[in-house]
Amino acid sequence: MDAQEFFAQLPRGKEDKPLLFGFGPLEYNKDDIDGLYYMLDRDFSGCLLLNFAKPMNPEIQGRAWLNGEMLPPCVLKYMPIMGNLWVLGIPMRGFVNEYGKEYSLHVEGYTDTDGNEMNPQDFTVKCTDRAFPEKKNAAHETIALQAAQEGIVLLKNEGQLLPLAEGTTLNLFGKGVNQFRTSAVGAGKINPRYTIDLLTALREGGVFGVNEELPKFYRCDRDAIPQAEVIKAAREKSDLAVMLITRGTGENLDNSSAKGEYYLSGDEENLLKTLSETFSHTVVILNTGYPIDVTFADRYHVDALIYNGFGGMLAGQALADVLSGKMNPCGKLPDTWPMDYFDLPASRNFYDSADKPRLDADCGVYADTCYEEGIYVGYRYFSTFGKAPAYPFGYGLSYTSFTMKPGKLVYDRGIYGEITVTNTGSCSGKEVVQIYVNKPDGRMETPDRELIYFAKTRELQPGETERIPVSVPEKNLTVYDTDKAAYIMPAGEYTIFAGTDVYAPIWGSFVNEAETIVKQASHLMMAPNPPETLSKRNPESWPKGERTRVKEGTDGFFPVGKRSAYPASFNSGKSGKKLVYQDVKRDPSLVNKFVAALSIEELARLCVCASAGWGMEGVGEAGRVYQLEGYDMPDFPVSDGNSGVNLRVPNIGMPSGVTLCATFNKELMEQVGRVIGEEAKALGMPLILAPGMNLHRNPLNGRQPEYFSEDPYLAGMMGGHYCKGMESAGVGSCIKHLIGNNCESTRKRNQSIIGERALRELYLKPFEIAMGEHMPASVMTAYNAVNGCPTAADEELIQGFLREENGFDGFVMTDWGTYDTAGVAEMVQAGNCWITPGSLDDTYTGQIVEGVKEGRITLERLEENAAWIIRTMIRFA
Ligand code: BGC
Repeated sequence: MDAQEFFAQLPRGKEDKPLLFGFGPLEYNKDDIDGLYYMLDRDFSGCLLLNFAKPMNPEIQGRAWLNGEMLPPCVLKYMPIMGNLWVLGIPMRGFVNEYGKEYSLHVEGYTDTDGNEMNPQDFTVKCTDRAFPEKKNAAHETIALQAAQEGIVLLKNEGQLLPLAEGTTLNLFGKGVNQFRTSAVGAGKINPRYTIDLLTALREGGVFGVNEELPKFYRCDRDAIPQAEVIKAAREKSDLAVMLITRGTGENLDNSSAKGEYYLSGDEENLLKTLSETFSHTVVILNTGYPIDVTFADRYHVDALIYNGFGGMLAGQALADVLSGKMNPCGKLPDTWPMDYFDLPASRNFYDSADKPRLDADCGVYADTCYEEGIYVGYRYFSTFGKAPAYPFGYGLSYTSFTMKPGKLVYDRGIYGEITVTNTGSCSGKEVVQIYVNKPDGRMETPDRELIYFAKTRELQPGETERIPVSVPEKNLTVYDTDKAAYIMPAGEYTIFAGTDVYAPIWGSFVNEAETIVKQASHLMMAPNPPETLSKRNPESWPKGERTRVKEGTDGFFPVGKRSAYPASFNSGKSGKKLVYQDVKRDPSLVNKFVAALSIEELARLCVCASAGWGMEGVGEAGRVYQLEGYDMPDFPVSDGNSGVNLRVPNIGMPSGVTLCATFNKELMEQVGRVIGEEAKALGMPLILAPGMNLHRNPLNGRQPEYFSEDPYLAGMMGGHYCKGMESAGVGSCIKHLIGNNCESTRKRNQSIIGERALRELYLKPFEIAMGEHMPASVMTAYNAVNGCPTAADEELIQGFLREENGFDGFVMTDWGTYDTAGVAEMVQAGNCWITPGSLDDTYTGQIVEGVKEGRITLERLEENAAWIIRTMIRFA
């Protein structure tokens, strides 16, 4: 029976009792902590999902039992987005905990709106089988392990409590024991061949003992305090408590400043207090996708604090290796962790659902987000305004110690020198050299510090030394001059700092005698009504948050900005002769001729993606290029995959973007990109929709773990190296989401209002730097608007910034379903080559054909867009 027949025979009549059904055999993957629907609705976290075809009465709560044990209350919701079904989420996390085992599920009591109660139903639910490492994947998985290990940041280690002695019994507390998250949800999700979570790694590692009473207790899915006798027994086993604090997050929904999100929940706080008072030593592991309040580490007696983020398929093993000292931690914070969320200037202009409904992508309301903090994002604010963070940018401890001896600093249209790093401790390890600049504070005010270079040492043995050459091009020393629309080096003194975090000591200084223009740009994407921005020269300038708001009664972005037009320069060298794909594959100089012979309908068809493979028939690919009939075109599917190939086929599972970034290891990042590329190639994916490159403007952004850093240079370098690695495997990369997609709340209808300086020095910068390191095959525009124009339809962004200024030579695509809020013709005319996910009918192609007929799209622009697609395709398929 196919899906359509199956749906047709479901009982829907007034008298019919509601029937609970699932698709295919019921499997529960205990390693997929949040599950598929979490990105749509957080209440479904950890649930097995079943459906009712009839409208249900949510007031009447039924019940579910697993192997005779009553489960916590289920979640019943109408999900229009999931095929107009009522979805029953049955909480199973912690209950289904044995690989390969079958469980019997009994459900009863749910009642439809016609008053019919369901007949009790029984199901068999199988926990997915355990998979084991295979030799053929070992080389790739070694990189995944290294990335997970190097991405761990040791934040506190009082009295050198860590590493723990072999044979110690670990008392693991907190719901994170059964909710050890290894990935973000949504586009950044991984589907690994297997997962080694912390419990598995500890149980099977043979180094530590595990107090097994506690994982049993924490099936409760709460950060509850176990009964006194359980605690007493734990204390007798060892005087050490390890508490896991966990937070899931991902695409579509932002986090908030509520307790249980940015701040500790009441349960977490109570548990931590009890543990720190009961045990002589407490270790806290932050298994969170975003920075949270860590002031507890000093409020209670917490000896050691570890940030492991989402570490991918081998996250647990990596963490166990750090606990045991097999791995000496060498990760560094890619973001400032503040003392308080509201210390962040961007907190004043961010939709915070702590006391309001969470807004998802399709909630339908329009909102403005005004970037009043200007250039003062992350450490740029903390260092300039003398505000103490909880943990600074670039920070991370080691089990050994290092000294850094800077050599002579030379300025010659760039800075040059050498830093000598010596391991002065007693175990081997790696250190990160970080170079910052303080630029002259003249006509343009400048932040106190800006990262301009970083490099990681190799593994240094005790006593061993490495000389790290430093070379910083002039372009890294510039300020964006809003009067001249240019990147300039102001006249005056430049101070250079070299060290291991943002508060690095002075290395030296030089004087630039006269102001110079390093790169002339032009005014792009200007805000019709620019924001007032934070200034260290104006004590009254702290962000007020008045322009950031959900807009009532509007169904569009406003003001609609006027953008310059960039005429297409498509030149076909017309012959009119029809060519096929293989002709251009053999001779790429024929691309324009190939395109010139296509009809308008064919051009439109090529420029609209042939829909996503998220249904039951696909393998989960995000889309594919339409294979024009008669042109012998290859299959060209694309898939998500920041941290692996996001298909329903098991493959590699790397850490999330921010954890990869915490490695501060460019060479490793290249290897990560290469491995994902090689896996994608083996799975028939010529292009991967990654990396996500948006700046960490606010830690509560739902996609924080997917993106890299609050610093544009770090994000850009890491992104560029990732793309380089991926494309070395013959698979195209895609830097996304250009630009200003810095929150998920009503993301398709959110307008970022950004001043020109911040746009240039912060938000466009990571993309510019990545393109400078390695020109990627493609770019994805964002859902949001910037300064009055949807980014997907912004000609100044696509033609001006990407093509003219940065020589981008790949193809540009929309984010998925951007046409819900931006006109198809406008996007195409701006140079957005591929409209996604599209469809197989003429819904979107029709709009393009119409657009050409009405003169809203020039034929040359449509041809040029098509040529970019073909030119890119022939490189990878
Ligand atoms: C996300 C993109 C992703 C695309 C395709 C969108 O919802 O924002 O990052 O690449 O879907 O899955």
